[in-house]
Amino acid sequence: MNQLDAIALHWRRAPRRWGHPLHSLCSYFAMFPPHVPRVFIEWLTRSGDVVYDPFSGRGTAPLEACRLGRLGFGSDANPLACVLTAAKVDPPEINHIEARLLDIRRSVPSSNPKGVHPDIRMLYAPDTLRQLCWLRDTLNLHDRTDVFIMATVLGMLHANYKPGSPPRGFSISMPNTFSMAPAYIRKYIDQHHLKPPVVDVFDMIDKKVKRLNLPNVNATRGMAWQADAREPMLPFQKPVRLVFTSPPYLSVIKYGKYNWIRLWMLKYEPRQIDAGLVATSSINRYLEFMKGLLLSMASVLSSNGYLSLMIGDVADKRSGLSTNLAERVWKDAAQSLGWRRLGIVNDHLPVQHKVSRIWGHQKKGAATKVDRILILAPPNTSHTLPPTPAGFSWNSANHWSEQGRS
Ligand SMILES: C[S@@+](CC[C@H](N)C(=O)[O-])C[C@H]1O[C@@H](n2cnc3c(N)ncnc32)[C@H](O)[C@@H]1O
Repeated sequence: MNQLDAIALHWRRAPRRWGHPLHSLCSYFAMFPPHVPRVFIEWLTRSGDVVYDPFSGRGTAPLEACRLGRLGFGSDANPLACVLTAAKVDPPEINHIEARLLDIRRSVPSSNPKGVHPDIRMLYAPDTLRQLCWLRDTLNLHDRTDVFIMATVLGMLHANYKPGSPPRGFSISMPNTFSMAPAYIRKYIDQHHLKPPVVDVFDMIDKKVKRLNLPNVNATRGMAWQADAREPMLPFQKPVRLVFTSPPYLSVIKYGKYNWIRLWMLKYEPRQIDAGLVATSSINRYLEFMKGLLLSMASVLSSNGYLSLMIGDVADKRSGLSTNLAERVWKDAAQSLGWRRLGIVNDHLPVQHKVSRIWGHQKKGAATKVDRILILAPPNTSHTLPPTPAGFSWNSANHWSEQGRS
């Protein structure tokens, strides 16, 4: 075991379900467990530092940063990810959400919406769809309360539940992780004679929000925005102390296509979203992309900052041979650009515990068996890693630091 690998024991020893309830606001492909950024943020940053994730996904790292009194920033090229991250790093007070929900509920039209695509209509009961369409047309995604309501809706647009048990989402029962293809859903509905549940969207949002343990008005907050990671356009001046991120996998994950229901709610075309995201199984193209990322991260990090890249090994589908992708990123991208390698943490997890298992990678022979976190320092710097922490307390799943205090 390399000396740094011991740090992985901290998150391996954490309670499996540890985490603030906000983390599970909405599921997302290839999300990392909150334990891992938590350990890095506590180890490599101090209160008031900026922590940034340029592939923020559902906002795991920025949320953990805010909870620790750091400024948690996240960007992503996928607008779905931006809404989820924004909701987590800048949640409104609960009374604002309740007042807004009441306000919107009062104005829901009594007639059914026109022109809704049959692929959407098959999922929801007519009254539920009427409420959803009204929220879709009314919520203003430049307003933090509305963004939060939208993120909560996105997390409940489809959900899995057993026949006879109370619905956990608004749709017929289906996975909550991704949207299955419309033709498949239609066939499944016909075969199983499924009827959409009759649910009140506003009541369900209200109940869910009450369970999220939202922080008070003084809680440390952050920011989220939409950007390509190679041109992150940071909306602030302060240099970043830690970039903690997991870039897209070396595989073709169609975040748009498999989120078509959530993207309908957000009024985006899935194909257009996929066209703007990096998804490649070519190692050379991937390394080129990583070079672009490294150049942009060098310009945002402080002279004592760290870049931590969580990158899983990939297995060749035919030969089954595994590539240590983090090592390739170091040798074939970072080193030549002048970055300094401070260390690597190798986290060997059984495949059934991996986040990637939800995407069925193991069936295709591409399961990530080892996650590695490559820790780099920007070019022309001389700092080193601080000593690794002796221990972590995992008691504070709900704690959220307040501004100006640690
Ligand atoms: C592995 S996921 C990150 C998941 C995240 N760590 C979490 O816990 O939810 C990779 C993310 O990269 C985003 N992405 C893909 N290409 C991008 C690009 N060129 N610029 C910014 N984000 C991109 C995807 O939308 C996806 O959210």
